[in-house]
Amino acid sequence: MFDFAPDPDLEKPVLYSALARAAQALVDGERDSVANMANLAAVIWQFVPDLNWAGFYRAIGDELVLGPFIGKPACIRIPFGRGVCGTAAASGAAQIVPDVHAFPGHIACDAETRSELVVPIVSGGRVIAVIDLDSPTPGRFDDEDASGMQLVAQVAAMAI
Ligand code: SME
Repeated sequence: MFDFAPDPDLEKPVLYSALARAAQALVDGERDSVANMANLAAVIWQFVPDLNWAGFYRAIGDELVLGPFIGKPACIRIPFGRGVCGTAAASGAAQIVPDVHAFPGHIACDAETRSELVVPIVSGGRVIAVIDLDSPTPGRFDDEDASGMQLVAQVAAMAI
């Protein structure tokens, strides 16, 4: 078992760089993508405060399919271009959504979710998956969260 003990008072850049290091350590030497996504979801959950959902959607054909996650059961298939996840996958750009109710086409999986961050995972020039973080707090995510999670997405790109 890996018992990371992140300090919740760390500045975001420091916290995310520690998270990226922990993520790298967890996937080192392991090639199974399901195991790696499961451990990455768990370590994100340990490091990033104030989340109610953290996990992966994988790009399969022209849709996203639910992968390993922590949180309540979620919708399984999301077409590219739909919702926050599908928008991130189709555009290749991170989506910071301060108020999910104001995002056209937002797909509600957990009624508690108020804000959301989705970061694409790019490998070989294409989006192979996304990391989705949901929070019960409005406006929970900013550019520092997006940049930090991009570090984790780079680790994931080599491991899933
Ligand atoms: N809200 C997402 C769907 C996934 S759940 O949040 C886990 C979306 O709009 O794409």
